[in-house]
Amino acid sequence: MLCEKSLSLFPRCLLKKNLLDIKTLNKEDINLILERSHYYKHLTKEGRSFAPVLENKTIANLFFEPSTRTRMSFEKAAINLGGKVINFDSSSSSVQKGETLLDTARTVESLGVEALVIRHPLAGAPSQVAGEVGTPVINAGDGSHEHPTQALLDLFTIKDIKGSLDGLKVFIVGDVLHSRVVRSNIWAFLKMGIEITVVGPYTLMPPGLEEMGIKVKPCLDEELRQADIIYLLRMQKERQQGGLFPTIKEYKKFYGITQDSLKNVKAKGIIMHPGPVVPGIEIEDILTRSPQSVIQEQVKNGVFVRMALLELMLSGEVKN
Ligand code: NCD
Repeated sequence: MLCEKSLSLFPRCLLKKNLLDIKTLNKEDINLILERSHYYKHLTKEGRSFAPVLENKTIANLFFEPSTRTRMSFEKAAINLGGKVINFDSSSSSVQKGETLLDTARTVESLGVEALVIRHPLAGAPSQVAGEVGTPVINAGDGSHEHPTQALLDLFTIKDIKGSLDGLKVFIVGDVLHSRVVRSNIWAFLKMGIEITVVGPYTLMPPGLEEMGIKVKPCLDEELRQADIIYLLRMQKERQQGGLFPTIKEYKKFYGITQDSLKNVKAKGIIMHPGPVVPGIEIEDILTRSPQSVIQEQVKNGVFVRMALLELMLSGEVKN
């Protein structure tokens, strides 16, 4: 349990300037973010108000791809802390007239903002921008590369429910190859001592997983019994070249979570999904609302984690 006194001991200089990935984030930084997220969840549960640590600060959401939860979660997090948010919509912006990503980023920076939250279909786009602008950049998902704030909120959700992370077993099921969420989560889980098994068609598995100490399985079976967490992924059709798995019916048969496959899961095993869930494919619709599903809890926790992150990156100090 977080004691408020300990917060005053937090260093003044917090985290790096940018959050571009989980791969280069150290365990201490992750723990700092999780601890501060816990504090915000705790305040919320007690109905207490938040200090306006982002007062007079504006966050720009630059989303070049669709998003519901990530964009709105950043927005809610900033507003909760007294900050302001401006949203950019690429379909109605000068991108349509040929403006480049860097020009857009420089333009938004010149408006006078304190952070750029960037989602882009190209891997590496946020880090390219970070190399060109002075404003802190947060990666909100870049191509199939990383989605660091999703991994942080997933770690927080697991820790919040299970009490600790070390030694837990996660089974990640689905399109691992195209998922930026899984790339961030693999780094996050490995750093925090969670054992990983990935399950999916070999055509949707990147090479090198076993070398990282990850178990790879071609289909779901009774081993699912060992899972503390089942982490489901959406078929990222927009990033697939086609012909990677036979049919959706076949995929559902071997990888879909059904009432039947849940029989092989521990009573305390939880089901997670970064969303959006495609009903009836990766999981039977009704199971998304089962007691084992923590999908909505992930969304709720995302706000606390982004509050913690924005505060630690932008406020320069932690106020209680
Ligand atoms: C994911 C994304 O966009 O990377 N969703 C999210 O941000 N919560 C996963 C997906 O699109 O399947």
